Amino acid sequence: MECAFVGCGAAAGLYAAGLDASTLSLAAVCDVERARAEELVAPRDATAYADIDAMLDAEAAPLVVNLTGHEAHAPVTRRCLRAGRHVFSEKPLALSGAEASDLLALAERRGVALGCAPLNHRSETQRQARHVLADGRLGTVRLAYAHAHVGRVTEWHDDPASFLRVGPLYDGAVYPLNLLVEWFGPVTRVRSADAVDLWPDGESHEPERPTHVEATLSTAGGPVVRLTASFYAPHRSREFTSLELHGDDGSLYVEDAGDMGGSDRPLVSFGGRGRPYTAMPLQEPARETPYLAGPERLAESVRRGAPDRRSASRAAHLVAVCEAIEDAAEPGSPVDVESSVADSSAVAAESPPPVWTPEESAGNDGSAAVRLPPVGFGCSRYRDGDYVDRRESIEMALDAGYRFFDSAELYGNEHRLGEALSAPGSPDRETVFLASKVWNTNHGHATEACESTLRELGTAYVDCYMVHWPEAWAYTGPLRRLAERPVETQEAMAFPRNETGEIRTADVSLEAVWRDLESLHDRGLARTLGLCNVDRETLLDVLDFARIPPKLVQVERHPYRPRTDLVTACHRRGIRVVAHSPLSAPGLLREPAVEEIARERGISPAQVVLAWNVTRGVVPIPSTTDRDHVVENLAASGTRLSADRMVRLDDLADPDFER
Ligand SMILES: NC(=O)c1ccc[n+]([C@@H]2O[C@H](COP(=O)([O-])OP(=O)(O)OC[C@H]3O[C@@H](n4cnc5c(N)ncnc54)[C@H](OP(=O)(O)O)[C@@H]3O)[C@@H](O)[C@H]2O)c1
Repeated sequence: MECAFVGCGAAAGLYAAGLDASTLSLAAVCDVERARAEELVAPRDATAYADIDAMLDAEAAPLVVNLTGHEAHAPVTRRCLRAGRHVFSEKPLALSGAEASDLLALAERRGVALGCAPLNHRSETQRQARHVLADGRLGTVRLAYAHAHVGRVTEWHDDPASFLRVGPLYDGAVYPLNLLVEWFGPVTRVRSADAVDLWPDGESHEPERPTHVEATLSTAGGPVVRLTASFYAPHRSREFTSLELHGDDGSLYVEDAGDMGGSDRPLVSFGGRGRPYTAMPLQEPARETPYLAGPERLAESVRRGAPDRRSASRAAHLVAVCEAIEDAAEPGSPVDVESSVADSSAVAAESPPPVWTPEESAGNDGSAAVRLPPVGFGCSRYRDGDYVDRRESIEMALDAGYRFFDSAELYGNEHRLGEALSAPGSPDRETVFLASKVWNTNHGHATEACESTLRELGTAYVDCYMVHWPEAWAYTGPLRRLAERPVETQEAMAFPRNETGEIRTADVSLEAVWRDLESLHDRGLARTLGLCNVDRETLLDVLDFARIPPKLVQVERHPYRPRTDLVTACHRRGIRVVAHSPLSAPGLLREPAVEEIARERGISPAQVVLAWNVTRGVVPIPSTTDRDHVVENLAASGTRLSADRMVRLDDLADPDFER
């Protein structure tokens, strides 16, 4: 669709940057300073105008993108709507609630689309935060802190006068408010408000409205909001446009409510009850939402024959909120806010896509493959010949957003994972992938082992139940809570030896234990089955006799030991490969190639090695007890390595590698 830009300030450059990749084409540009319009059209096949009436008379472009200064938004939008054009306006839609409602009514009468920024709720960061809410991790949310520290506009904007004439609410506070209205429904009441003149001496521009505003607001179905909007507090202060939500079961912090995606570090963190905040990395490559996405969506609604006005309706409500705050800040009593926005408070009622879904998707050859998060979390206690406690790191991993946990009866701590998963504010069971394994001594007792694991995990089913090793060893009794027994008992039960120190094996074939696993699958106790520590030949044997074929194969895999034949065989058959011990091969993280790529990409050596697996569609399950590493490892989910870097890491393959 053809469009015209009106206004050629800083925003126009941001919108124009997306034109080459857009479904919109620019036909005309208008600015009262003709030279600015000419500069913008110069590299494009578009016409420059200095007068909006002349442009609307001469041009047929059905969509106008209004990028003028704050006070010009409403008059320009009105003029264009009257000319029968669809309009997307930068925020604010208008400077009074009545004016904003008039524009909406006018668009409705004319049957045209009207849209308005901000559309921050559509960016990946804000969607991630929304998913945490929908997961129920905060419980009932009763309190929100919203900041809009727009800062000294004189320092960072080429047209500070326009900001200083409208105050900090209409341009800054709308970001966190937009999210709150989208997530919890309209603001219903300004409970209290205060507006203060704070401004440093010697500034070139003088504000025309109070520069610092504080208010307490009620929302229809959600929290009480304490809002602070300021031109005085610098935009580099700790809080810029942040939003912090506190619920009965946890807290959520969104560092930049206005963020439009593409950040290479996590902007959302979660704090479980009584626990410190943990950063939540995105689990897919970061992607920026272009400014033009708003006008494009509007054009799409027109093409569908249903001209959209929803974002304008929300924007009109935001203007009414800002106005009500200003009114309430005048000496007097609280002011009720009228709203035409539907109450969309039911965060829990709408279920956005979880981080991963257990449904199956097509494998390389069209056979069904299990969908998994790109990186999982290993729960083993073993660490260089020692045992470590994993309770805290498992809780941290849940907080950071891991949704695939690798466990086993051998680890002796499955109840720790179960406790974390049943704590208030933990994610829905359906959104977590739990894998566990039957240990070598239990090949003749797989049913008993699996039932014990389910009790420990506090779940009715595991998402994948696996054979830990293909070899069967002598039975030593149930291994439940091995971690709570003396170390010598743990060793004796897990590694039964005869007098000469050799492992005592048992005569249980792999086929026999697999049959038991198939029965567990039939009973619904294991949604899928898997094999650990197998080579290609063993896998093919199992595929020959299996009635229910394995969906996961877990093996040690890292650049020293790429297991290419096995991975290829699995991917061809829609079997997902999980890489255990992905980081701990001696010397791997200090390999010059790994360190070089880490420097080139600005990531850590561990992230390089994890991304090597992720890029090939293999899911690494690193284990760590370190808070920073928990976050860093998950952040590798979004990192893909280029083909030449993959080759440099492939070159590390060592056929003689042994631990
Ligand atoms: N199926 C099987 O037979 C089998 C066998 C082995 C393992 N596994 C599974 O695989 C999981 C992981 O394997 P693993 O525990 O052997 O080893 P790993 O994940 O390869 O390595 C763990 C080691 O790496 C360090 N580390 C973690 N993140 C790091 C980072 N970002 N930077 C630097 N160092 C980092 C850890 O120290 P910090 O704690 O200080 O971070 C720890 O010393 C296990 O928990 C288990 O679930 C399965």
